[in-house]
Amino acid sequence: MRAVQVKEFGGPEVLIPVELPDPVPGPGEVVIDVAYVDTIFVETQIRAGQGRDHFPVSPPYVPGGGVSGVVRVVGAGVPAEWLGRRVSSFVTGSYAERAVAPVSALTAVPDPLDLLSAAALVHDGVTALGLLGLTALGETDRVLVLGASGGMGTLLVQLAQARGARVVAVARGEEKLALVRELGADAVVDATRDDWAAAARHALGGPIEGADVVLDGVGGAVGAAALSLTADGGRFSAHGAASGGFAPLDTEDAARRAIELFGIADVQFGPADLHRLTSEAHTAAATGRLRPVIGGVFPLARAAEAHAAIEGRGLVGKVMLRV
Ligand SMILES: NC(=O)c1ccc[n+]([C@@H]2O[C@H](COP(=O)([O-])OP(=O)(O)OC[C@H]3O[C@@H](n4cnc5c(N)ncnc54)[C@H](OP(=O)(O)O)[C@@H]3O)[C@@H](O)[C@H]2O)c1
Repeated sequence: MRAVQVKEFGGPEVLIPVELPDPVPGPGEVVIDVAYVDTIFVETQIRAGQGRDHFPVSPPYVPGGGVSGVVRVVGAGVPAEWLGRRVSSFVTGSYAERAVAPVSALTAVPDPLDLLSAAALVHDGVTALGLLGLTALGETDRVLVLGASGGMGTLLVQLAQARGARVVAVARGEEKLALVRELGADAVVDATRDDWAAAARHALGGPIEGADVVLDGVGGAVGAAALSLTADGGRFSAHGAASGGFAPLDTEDAARRAIELFGIADVQFGPADLHRLTSEAHTAAATGRLRPVIGGVFPLARAAEAHAAIEGRGLVGKVMLRV
């Protein structure tokens, strides 16, 4: 089968198309003919050799962790009814024509949902829904979304708006601001403004200053600044490191102001939750309540261009690979 490997840590050019043996399913596993491959920001950071304590991969390796497609082969013990079914799944090494997954990791894609959208929800849909549960986001909350125009940010804006929260979305540039406004943000703030934090504070409004919930998909200094925008007693999720590192948060300040902090470890879900959240994301998208925003779809063999596009930050919406 055709696949793409990271040959060595480095820039997008280290993503090289290769020919690999077809995978064979073990007991309890299936082989998926991959239709679409999800890409997420962290895959570019791992490819560049960052965060090696957390991501113990060594080149050459096939990157990626999410696909949609059709089950073509079932291993011993897997009911034959899975054959030919449209599924999405977390897998290890997804930049390939075929992927192996345990049957327990599969989620059947409902008929009205296209396979491109299903793949786009594998990571972002699960994490976005998981974050809403984690922060118990509800209709009385004012929520600040940082990195609102990204793959997950665009879902968070829609989901928070659907829960009745007041959504203030921070994104970069007019085109991305227009998108998050269209997705339901009550107010938008341009991240390139020097006074973005003051503008966000103003937009959040309310009798007690600040956000009840901050969803930080950016990290770094931007995330750290957002702690001061969090209302006393609020919740802050520092799951994002798109700027190069997670937000360095003043935990003493947070404790003094009774702000509940969540981090990346809080959005690692077990198999049951993964399945529940994936199904929920599929259903929401199939019924038109949630729209994954896809800004670019590249052929698998051009994965290097896909990574360059993610890092270039020019596309509006997430980047996908087509097999
Ligand atoms: N997707 C998931 O399931 C998941 C799970 C756990 C954690 N996360 C983390 O959440 C964050 C967002 O993930 P994603 O998959 O939604 O990524 P994405 O689609 O690539 O979005 C990244 C967001 O960060 C912004 N950004 C990129 N580079 C930046 C920089 N140098 N400084 C400031 N902002 C920057 C982008 O907007 P502009 O380029 O317009 O600034 C965009 O809004 C990432 O840090 C990721 O690791 C994601």
